[in-house]
Amino acid sequence: MEDVKNISLIIEPDPRLRQPTQKVDEVSPKLLEVFNSMAKIMEQFDGIGLAGPQVGLLKKIIIIDVETIAREEGKELPKKRYLKIINPLIISTSKEVCMMEEGCLSVPTIYYEIERPKTIKVSFMDENGDNIELEADGLLARCIEHEIDHLNGKLFIDYLSPLKKRMVINKLKKMKV
Ligand code: NI
Repeated sequence: MEDVKNISLIIEPDPRLRQPTQKVDEVSPKLLEVFNSMAKIMEQFDGIGLAGPQVGLLKKIIIIDVETIAREEGKELPKKRYLKIINPLIISTSKEVCMMEEGCLSVPTIYYEIERPKTIKVSFMDENGDNIELEADGLLARCIEHEIDHLNGKLFIDYLSPLKKRMVINKLKKMKV
């Protein structure tokens, strides 16, 4: 695992957001530090999910603010604020799809309605090294689907028409200067 002191949020366009990621072998103290840094970045920029590539780590790691998601949906609050996902594997997704507005910390100020499967079943390792199987719907499913895309070098704007996507990229380029 790379040095965690240097991690910071990466904004599209950036080739690091477009690369495949590697599996994590084990839960190390360094990995836990990485998750803590990711939680801070997520909080700083008011996000609910963040994936490794967004902070320049090409690893299969995701952190999700499940407490904020539960609060937003009026659901029972989880015991822990953050869901830490390592090496996620999609077991199944529903045929049923739904539209939901998405944004992304790596694509600031841009929001679009995107169609995705309504529910998802996923397996992963958590920060204790335990294997977890999770079935999610609503905003949590949406967030997991969005973050798993990041691990495959994919962003939500890839679902837009080529013209819209080009407009978004141009806007982001201007913001970067
Ligand atoms: Ni994102």
